Amino acid sequence: MGERVVKLAVFISGGGSTLKNLIDRVADESCRAKIACVVSSRSKVRGVQIAEDAGIPTIVVPRKKYDTPEEFSEVVTRGVEPFAPELIAFGGFMSLYVFPPHYHGKIINIHPALLPCFGGKGMYGDHVHEAVLKAGCKVTGCTVHFVDEEYDRGPIIAQRAVPVLDGDTVETLGERVRAAERELYPEVINWFADGRVVLQPDGRVRVHGRELLGEMQ
Ligand code: GAR
Repeated sequence: MGERVVKLAVFISGGGSTLKNLIDRVADESCRAKIACVVSSRSKVRGVQIAEDAGIPTIVVPRKKYDTPEEFSEVVTRGVEPFAPELIAFGGFMSLYVFPPHYHGKIINIHPALLPCFGGKGMYGDHVHEAVLKAGCKVTGCTVHFVDEEYDRGPIIAQRAVPVLDGDTVETLGERVRAAERELYPEVINWFADGRVVLQPDGRVRVHGRELLGEMQ
């Protein structure tokens, strides 16, 4: 395990459960990151309170104040740039972010399903688990991926699977997936801290050292 810490910006739109997990993991040193700032696309959400309580500089850019994703994104970029994040991690961030070219390959998202299934517009939070149950899937999980120009799309970095059990409800399944998310996201951020994540020219992601360590993903 390396010692390097990655400078992180976390983007949120709601409850901030992913943010809270990252704050806790940074505190107990299982996530080697410094959360330099938080961006929220909504003002009155619990996530903003969580960020402020943790003393993290918080930039609120209400999406509804802007007509287009471009206008919104410009304000977000201007707010974030002074913090010079090495990595931007979405945590329940629900707005389209039109990012400048130098952020290419530096923005990641966690999604509560095994992409490319059950992603895209409207597929967030419990809606995803509901759709998984309705489809009768026997396995689901979470995906960490690079962000590109569309919702829940972009090169996959890591996935963790969990079983769908008979009798599962949105709540029980959601909690199982969230438990997997709480483990996977900090782990992936550590890979970035160690410079192990490489976006290849073929659009696929290689995580150096994984094959040698025999990690199961
Ligand atoms: C997480 O479960 C994350 O996977 C999901 O939102 C939750 C965090 O929201 N993200 C998506 O569905 C992205 N499409 P919260 O931090 O607001 O609680």
